[in-house]
Amino acid sequence: MSNLSLFDLIGKKALVTGGAVGIGRGCAVALAQAGADVAIVDIDEKTGTKTAEEIKSMGRQSLFVKCDVTDKQQVQAMVTAVVEAFDQLDIAVNNAGIAILGADEELPQADWDKVIAVNLTGTFLCAQAEAQQMIRQTPTEGKIINIASMSARIANCNASYDASKSGVVHMTKTLAVEWGRFNINVNCISPSYILTPMHASTPVAVRQRIREITPMGYVERPEDLSGAVIFLASAASNYVTGHDLLVDGGHTLNAWLAPLGREIPPRISPDQESKQMKADLDKMGLPYDANGINPDLHPEIADVFRQAFGD
Ligand SMILES: NC(=O)c1ccc[n+]([C@@H]2O[C@H](COP(=O)([O-])OP(=O)(O)OC[C@H]3O[C@@H](n4cnc5c(N)ncnc54)[C@H](O)[C@@H]3O)[C@@H](O)[C@H]2O)c1
Repeated sequence: MSNLSLFDLIGKKALVTGGAVGIGRGCAVALAQAGADVAIVDIDEKTGTKTAEEIKSMGRQSLFVKCDVTDKQQVQAMVTAVVEAFDQLDIAVNNAGIAILGADEELPQADWDKVIAVNLTGTFLCAQAEAQQMIRQTPTEGKIINIASMSARIANCNASYDASKSGVVHMTKTLAVEWGRFNINVNCISPSYILTPMHASTPVAVRQRIREITPMGYVERPEDLSGAVIFLASAASNYVTGHDLLVDGGHTLNAWLAPLGREIPPRISPDQESKQMKADLDKMGLPYDANGINPDLHPEIADVFRQAFGD
């Protein structure tokens, strides 16, 4: 096996939850570029179907499966549908996730429950159903990749989100211990702020602040995760398990420092930063301004930033 073919995913069968847009779509495209056939799993049928078509236009097999990851029966049926189409399941990226912002001293319990249900319980239900399939098939092996967040390590968003993501990281370690004997690697990837529809309302001043405190000097984009997801999905990571791969441009190293100066332009320009997010918003048929901002998409995020940074 050459070093390059270590990363080869030709013939591999994958699924990505929350794959319609954003990070999930970015992971699906990366896996397809490396050769995998990829099922798109999401509650958003309209956009998810378009993303599945996009994967097919790359010369790979794809299908859309509608599934709410909080519902165990739907999750079991989703894995069955993927295996009916692909015959097997080699790679699963459990990415579906939400944030409901709000001051924690007043957060309604229903909001807490919803975030934990999607981010933590949903990730577990998917991983469990995927592992059951990987254990059943021959050869018995698989790669499960959970999308956590830098918020598992730093107090960044709010209690429900941060707790759910810390839960994903620790759950990943436990599942890695339990499922190593089935040749299943279980790892997670922790991104920092990524310009996706989840952050479409982030004002220009906040993006600039992120650049200033991030050593690599630009705001993360979905394709910045491509290398990490291909690595964890491929034979290149066969001896890596229970790992939380932080992909944050160094953001969490310096969160408390004064702005970092730089004389050399970063690799990625502000225009390039928001290109993928604009593509997501185009796919969803949603408008945005010249800076790629749609303040109506997640007004609660815009409000939090407005309180911290002004207009
Ligand atoms: N954007 C960021 O800055 C960032 C940073 C770190 C981690 N993350 C994590 O990455 C993941 C993806 O984030 P994103 O920014 O692409 O979000 P996004 O809101 O742009 O996309 C999330 C996708 O998940 C789907 N989804 C939501 N609830 C679902 C459910 N119950 N069942 C199935 N699908 C569901 C949505 O329809 C959507 O297609 C999340 O787990 C998020 O917490 C995001």
